[in-house]
Amino acid sequence: MAILKIITEENETLRKKSKPVTEITPRIITLLDDMRDTLIDADGVGLAAVQTGILRRIFIINTSVEEGKDDIVEFINPEIVETEGHQEEVEGCLSVPGKYGVTSRPQKVKVKATDRNGNEFEFTGEGLYARCLCHEYEHLDGILYTDNAIKMLDPEDFE
Ligand code: NI
Repeated sequence: MAILKIITEENETLRKKSKPVTEITPRIITLLDDMRDTLIDADGVGLAAVQTGILRRIFIINTSVEEGKDDIVEFINPEIVETEGHQEEVEGCLSVPGKYGVTSRPQKVKVKATDRNGNEFEFTGEGLYARCLCHEYEHLDGILYTDNAIKMLDPEDFE
């Protein structure tokens, strides 16, 4: 278990497309474990593998962050299969520290993915977690939320 370095927006790796995971090797399991530690340490809602410099289609989200607990779901090779509704809320990113912006996202998002045991599962997120699923999914394609934000906030809006 280790806390990984989170790369930031000037690092061009964040702009690359992540590759599918073809086999869940011990290295992938270690990466998942380290990503969990890293997300909890950074006090974030979601983290994509690319943010630790690894171009694999993996992200994790903390689904109990609103309750102040850690309940982390791991998504390998995720696909968004259904979206519903609309929301415009404030978003941030561990790779874009100190900035926040308003994004347009679905209110509800259903994702299909593989877990660390190789089993397929579906996960539906609403509100904050719907935003997070879309945000993390975009990381896998080299997109940052700042690319499509409706507006970025002035620092004095949130200080
Ligand atoms: Ni992010």
